[in-house]
Amino acid sequence: MAHFAPRAFGRAGFSVSPLGLGTGRLGGQEVSEAEAERLLHGAVDAGVMLLDTAPSYGLAEERIGRYLGGRRQRVVLSTKGGYGVPGVQDWTGAVITAGIEAALRRMRTDHLDVFHFHSCPAETLWHSDVIEALEGAVKAGKVRVGAYSGEGEALRWAVGSGRFGAVQMSVNLCDQRVLDGVVPAAAAAGLGVIGKRALANAAWRFEGRPTGDYAEVYWERLRAMAPERRGLAWDALALRFAVFQPGVSACLVGTASLERLLHNVQIVEEGPLAQDHMEALRHRFREEDRDWAGQV
Ligand SMILES: NC(=O)c1ccc[n+]([C@@H]2O[C@H](COP(=O)([O-])OP(=O)(O)OC[C@H]3O[C@@H](n4cnc5c(N)ncnc54)[C@H](OP(=O)(O)O)[C@@H]3O)[C@@H](O)[C@H]2O)c1
Repeated sequence: MAHFAPRAFGRAGFSVSPLGLGTGRLGGQEVSEAEAERLLHGAVDAGVMLLDTAPSYGLAEERIGRYLGGRRQRVVLSTKGGYGVPGVQDWTGAVITAGIEAALRRMRTDHLDVFHFHSCPAETLWHSDVIEALEGAVKAGKVRVGAYSGEGEALRWAVGSGRFGAVQMSVNLCDQRVLDGVVPAAAAAGLGVIGKRALANAAWRFEGRPTGDYAEVYWERLRAMAPERRGLAWDALALRFAVFQPGVSACLVGTASLERLLHNVQIVEEGPLAQDHMEALRHRFREEDRDWAGQV
């Protein structure tokens, strides 16, 4: 259990499990209510206390509220916004405020632990009203930590700005640039750091190029890197690489399968890869990196 012990979320004053559940799949219509309930309770029972969601993840926020309303104290709720409130213009202060209220209602809670701007460009962050709306919600106790989720210039700006308490970005075998810059800077500034797509979208599943699939970019990078596995299964290699990167508070894995989630917990309990294996994988990325930008 030592490797699965909760970790401080930057200077936020609360802890997160090293592995969090990404709820994109949980929100799908193809997942039944009974499956959703089982997944959410099973996650909490296994100590997966960080749940990452968004209004764009279908029924996910609603299901979290419906099934975990009674276990609110046991979970860290992380959601996002900036868009999608009927009658309110996207990426304005008003939509941030309205989006937070809507998330509170859907998740049947009086506060959100983390609220991210969901991948807006840097220019949006420079309009002070959006950040001020988020800071207002933090002041009012509706949000504990204001955060930015995204990549590239906007992410770097968010980390340097001093206006956010956490960031979320892709961290995996095929997306390592942040490990040399943004992640250590964020950690040094006391920010919580959530690594998304920690399994690199499990791109190894595809024998041939998954053209048009979400995983296509990572499939290409994995092929180019041909990472040394040293006898490990792909999922173990990917998770034990990402979850134990210095400065990363927690990593997310998306699945609607409780069995898969529990298997991923077991992998994390095995701890980090051997130090020289970590270094070899870091080196391999640098060798092959052809402007391999972070994947939103
Ligand atoms: N802020 C943002 O803009 C943003 C963008 C991307 C992701 N995210 C967050 O990060 C989370 C994770 O990202 P993701 O879902 O895109 O990618 P991911 O976790 O890297 O990959 C998810 C895929 O991996 C599969 N999987 C899970 N465990 C596995 C295992 N042990 N072996 C093989 N395959 C496995 C899942 O399949 P099954 O579903 O069939 O189990 C799913 O297809 C999201 O759910 C979301 O919360 C945020």
